[in-house]
Amino acid sequence: MGLIGLLKILSTFSQKIIRDADMSLLTKSFFFYQRSSSRNNNGFPSKILPFLAFLLCLPLVTPTVNAKVTGPCSNCHTMHNSQDGTAMATLGGESGVSPNPFLTRGSCTGCHAMASSSKIVSIGTSEIPQVLHTDGSGDLAAGNFAYMLGLKGSGALDGKGHNVVDFSGEDDDNLYGPPGGIVLFGHDDGTIVNDENLTCAGTNGCHGYRYNPTYGSGISALRGAHHGNVDGKCDIADTPANSYRFLFSVMGLENQDPTGKWQNISSTNHNEYFGQTMPKQLSCSATSCHLANSIGPPNHTMSEFCATCHGNFHTLTAGSSSGIGTGTNPFIRHPTDIALPNKGEYIAYNGDNSYSVVAPVGRAGAVPGSVSSTVTASGTDVVMCLSCHGAHATNYNDILRWDYAECVAGAGDGTKPLCGCFVCHTTKDD
Ligand code: HEC
Ligand code: HEC
Ligand code: HEC
Ligand code: HEC
Ligand code: HEC
Repeated sequence: MGLIGLLKILSTFSQKIIRDADMSLLTKSFFFYQRSSSRNNNGFPSKILPFLAFLLCLPLVTPTVNAKVTGPCSNCHTMHNSQDGTAMATLGGESGVSPNPFLTRGSCTGCHAMASSSKIVSIGTSEIPQVLHTDGSGDLAAGNFAYMLGLKGSGALDGKGHNVVDFSGEDDDNLYGPPGGIVLFGHDDGTIVNDENLTCAGTNGCHGYRYNPTYGSGISALRGAHHGNVDGKCDIADTPANSYRFLFSVMGLENQDPTGKWQNISSTNHNEYFGQTMPKQLSCSATSCHLANSIGPPNHTMSEFCATCHGNFHTLTAGSSSGIGTGTNPFIRHPTDIALPNKGEYIAYNGDNSYSVVAPVGRAGAVPGSVSSTVTASGTDVVMCLSCHGAHATNYNDILRWDYAECVAGAGDGTKPLCGCFVCHTTKDD
């Protein structure tokens, strides 16, 4: 085995065994390794020795790949929420009067919804991804609540996003419960989750430990996710920290391209979503979303995650939930977690089989280790909820990724409008 191969293995190994080691030290050492090894491809770089020694001194702990929060504690925490008699929990312009769980200087929205002109905001060395901003250069992968609230796009509309209570006064005028809830024990009528309690994280939320009375809601439900954040490939997903984007039990590959962090930019620069080739029946008696410690998708896919609240839009017919039907066509609702059939119009996905960030697909089988720029009807590339929808909010009603009015069959005028349906149903506008 060549030296570079050995170093690569050691480097991977080092990332795996380091958990509680000083992150800034690791970052420096890792950069140092990269520079040394790229400079010197033949000989043994002398400066690598201290790095190897450093590696060997590290304690052996559970395997993880690290990309945690960094920087001075004071960037993000306040010990008493008081300095010179003034409140400190004021990130994102919050009043700071109430102290936050885990002593943070802001709530979820204080840190992540600063309404600034930038989709990624830095405090010190820490970059914070923004879910509410007016950046004209684009949005992060899950979308932008600014469309729903009218700070960006064609005007405020409840239907453009998830109406989380974290934005005050943000009730959905038309919806109470989640449309498509599994027809069982109040999952479909808002008895459990509804527009008056839907929140970022925890019991009636999407991120962190969900419906775990010990962990509650909000920051408290994240429990170490930020300091333990596993970046890149998330294929364990048994804590928020090692799940895709802190979504408990969701697997996937987080975009590692430094120019595309948290974003889907192009066919070569995007996240990879996990999928399956046939959805499971969801119910208490069949496959349950009530996992140990949290609600979550039992099969770890992105679409099944959406189905933890919108189960009837995903499940195969199960009891009183008719779902998508039996799993073969004709379907009764648009299927998700179903492979692009290796026939007809699907073979020409996006015209040239390049990955489309307008109507992306999930990957079934194993969580991809790297980003792929192609999509084929080979049996593992699957349609998912996020093929058509955003997660937080988009500029279109029903959180769609494009203007559905542009989707006109048989227009035959040779122009391809911005309509994601045609990315897969490639012959329908002919
Ligand atoms: C004190 C500021 C702060 C607070 C409060 C905070 N976050 Fe974060 N969050 C950050 C920073 C900084 C990062 C970037 C960390 C990194 O690079 O991995 C981040 C990253 C994330 C990510 C992306 C993780 C990934 O996989 O890349 C998610 C999701 C997230 N936060 C959700 C939340 C939610 C939900 C809440 C509230 C329950 C919350 N955060 C509260 C600062 C904060
Ligand atoms: C924690 C439960 C929960 C999860 C998980 C969830 N949703 Fe929702 N969703 C709701 C609720 C409640 C509503 C109705 C209130 C509202 O619009 O916010 C809703 C509304 C919607 C709407 C209609 C928006 C409108 O106002 O017309 C769409 C579309 C949607 N969800 C898609 C998704 C997708 C896609 C996912 C997965 C990425 C997802 N949801 C995950 C609870 C959830
Ligand atoms: C860039 C922002 C950021 C910085 C810098 C930061 N933290 Fe945190 N920390 C958070 C957030 C956000 C949470 C709460 C959510 C969570 O646990 O995921 C948290 C949670 C914690 C927790 C409770 C959960 C756990 O992981 O054990 C401790 C303890 C903690 N931080 C200590 C520290 C100390 C000590 C420092 C400085 C050496 C520090 N933090 C620096 C953002 C930060
Ligand atoms: C093929 C594209 C497509 C896929 C895939 C898709 N949706 Fe939709 N969704 C739509 C469209 C279009 C609408 C508008 C209403 C309609 O046509 O039924 C919609 C509407 C919705 C609504 C709002 C319904 C209402 O009553 O206001 C929810 C909630 C929703 N979708 C959730 C999901 C979830 C969850 C998934 C995955 C399990 C999913 N969708 C997959 C295209 C899609
Ligand atoms: C990411 C790819 C993808 C996108 C985007 C997509 N579809 Fe589909 N669609 C599929 C797949 C895969 C099937 C299932 C085909 C099969 O198994 O026969 C399907 C099935 C359907 C069916 C049911 C066909 C049947 O045999 O029962 C209709 C209707 C449909 N799609 C319409 C739409 C519309 C309208 C849009 C846009 C709002 C859309 N699709 C977007 C991939 C996609």
